[in-house]
Amino acid sequence: MIESQQLLQPLNYIPADIYFAQDYELLAQGFIPAPSYSYIAGGSGRDQTLAANQAAFSKYPVVPRILRDLIQGNAQISLLGKNYSHPIFLAPVAYQKLAHPQGELDTTRAADATDTCMISSTLSSYSLEEIAKVGAADKWFQLYFQFSREATLDLLKRAESSGYKAIVVTIDTTIRSPSLGALRAQFQMPADCVAVNIQTYEQVTAKHIQHGQSRIFQGVMQEAPTWADLEWLLTQTKLPIFVKGVLHPEDAEKIKSMGCAGIIVSNHGGRSLDGAPASIDCLREIRTAVGNNYPVLFDSGIRSGLDIFKAIALGADAVLIGRLQVYALAVAGALGVAHMLKLLREELELTMAQAGCATIADIRKFNLRTA
Ligand code: FNR
Repeated sequence: MIESQQLLQPLNYIPADIYFAQDYELLAQGFIPAPSYSYIAGGSGRDQTLAANQAAFSKYPVVPRILRDLIQGNAQISLLGKNYSHPIFLAPVAYQKLAHPQGELDTTRAADATDTCMISSTLSSYSLEEIAKVGAADKWFQLYFQFSREATLDLLKRAESSGYKAIVVTIDTTIRSPSLGALRAQFQMPADCVAVNIQTYEQVTAKHIQHGQSRIFQGVMQEAPTWADLEWLLTQTKLPIFVKGVLHPEDAEKIKSMGCAGIIVSNHGGRSLDGAPASIDCLREIRTAVGNNYPVLFDSGIRSGLDIFKAIALGADAVLIGRLQVYALAVAGALGVAHMLKLLREELELTMAQAGCATIADIRKFNLRTA
């Protein structure tokens, strides 16, 4: 790992030695202080799920199909009645000033330039209002339930009035195992990196625990959202609501039956329950449970267009990119993120061409084997 005094400044050009989107991962280590890199790259606990996320993709080889006419090929999708030129979205990622002084403003600029749907985190280091003003492309807002319903509602209404087009409720990190990597690197959030959206809301603390009570159940979990909160949230907005962090087909079915717009199959990039299955291994079963026409998005472990192809073949309508966006941001700001997205899209289209798929619908019909 590179010492902080040797840190490189973000580039204002695309580095010459980037051939694949994943190349940003290695390069970013020169641009991000080592403790922050550990926080971003790390998972939870002993990082078992983090490792599984990427390794699991290799279980699904793609058998090439030959001699098909692909001259009309494209990677377009339609979601919530809107057309996108590709199925690659930017996942909500907190505290992007950790990677670049322009943080979320630059990732939004990149999304705007590449027809990419950007999902802005509750824990962004620029406010949701500032982010909403960048560019003209549609944006979605990722909502964490707050300590009080008043605060949750306030966030929701702010997102609505700022023009966000959908809400992504993340439900898988009410409680997290600590990241050993970040602990060992003695990571601390820098003073200038603040979750400005929620700065004025009351935060949950463990102060209410009585002697003999559990720090987990009566402590951290005392204000954890439940199904009743999701029911309530659905009555508070006309915006479509996606639920992010779903791995079990029964939960997926329940979310669908409640009237949510869709689900995001995700284990938070291995940052929640350490020991959870690789996200990609949950996809096929969930797609079967909710049927073919219900919107299912996917993330966790994607590092290439080949991975994206596999996620779509296993049932995803679109995918979210987490860490790669932060790495590209650290290396070259908006330019880096836009370049990384362009590379991912080309890698996806290359795989489509080699697998004989002219459209995303063709990928969904592709019979992906399990090695
Ligand atoms: C995240 N993720 C996340 N998710 C979310 O819903 N709200 C958030 O604020 C954050 N913050 C966040 C910070 C960092 C540093 C990371 C790495 C991730 C999870 C993210 O949306 C996504 O689920 C994973 O990053 C996907 O896995 P990959 O692409 O990073 O492997």
